Amino acid sequence: MSLTVSLLLVALCANGGYGEEGKEAQRTGHVSVVIVGGTGDLARKYLWQGFFQLYVDQVSGGNTFSFYGGGLSPSEKATPILFEILKAVTCSKDVSQERCAILKDQFLRLSQYRQLKALEDYQELAKHIEQQLQQEGMTEAGRLFYLSVPAFTYAGIAEKINSSCRPADGSWLRVVLEKPFGHDYRSAQVLATELLGALKDEEMYRIDHYLGKQVVSKILPFRMENRKLLGPIWNRHHIERIEIVLKETLDVKGDQRFPLPCLKKKMTQ
Ligand SMILES: *[C@@H]1O[C@H](CO)[C@@H](O)[C@H](O)[C@H]1NC(C)=O
Repeated sequence: MSLTVSLLLVALCANGGYGEEGKEAQRTGHVSVVIVGGTGDLARKYLWQGFFQLYVDQVSGGNTFSFYGGGLSPSEKATPILFEILKAVTCSKDVSQERCAILKDQFLRLSQYRQLKALEDYQELAKHIEQQLQQEGMTEAGRLFYLSVPAFTYAGIAEKINSSCRPADGSWLRVVLEKPFGHDYRSAQVLATELLGALKDEEMYRIDHYLGKQVVSKILPFRMENRKLLGPIWNRHHIERIEIVLKETLDVKGDQRFPLPCLKKKMTQ
């Protein structure tokens, strides 16, 4: 949970100024959040809750928001599913019940399902965002796409985003990619090249779904924090490899290219 939330924070709040200061001053305005795969397992378990939490934290920060759950199903079918998910989001303990009910209600009203399949669907989405901006009389802060879909669909989606969903100059585009990046170095390179055809590097926020798991991401800090004690033994001379096997009850559905939730990490130092 906290992984997803902190990742979202990076994607939503990062100041866009990729090294060059002042080049991309953060502007307030309308933020559109699109979860592609918005009724999938990850979205159901973590993403919507994470975005709701961010919404609660940011609601008084001057931005306005709209949230889109995207997927292949037609909207008559998926809309009720999305709203079942949204109704289950919870507030943190420091928010009163009354305020929580109001915030949830607002969040639900800002959210909708959209079928995102063909290029036209993405074009429609872009049109919808434009209309939203006009209605609100807001400038656009940016658009965040969170791709919670099998990695083999990334390139196609990235292309559609590039060709039809880029915001106007001055607004940011961020695309979060959360999946294992290939099953070996070569397949990861292929994926990276495909993506770079459609998105700029600074527009991509990559996270390896399995490497990002809390337990896994704690391995290195644990080593650093205990350097004194572990330094002499926890190194390449004494450890051949770290093998991480995550047992999950659900697989990465539909993703035949990367079926194994199993990582082998070589010690390099
Ligand atoms: C995005 O699409 C345009 C054409 O619409 C193309 O020129 C450009 O190379 C694509 N990729 C990036 C990273 O902008």
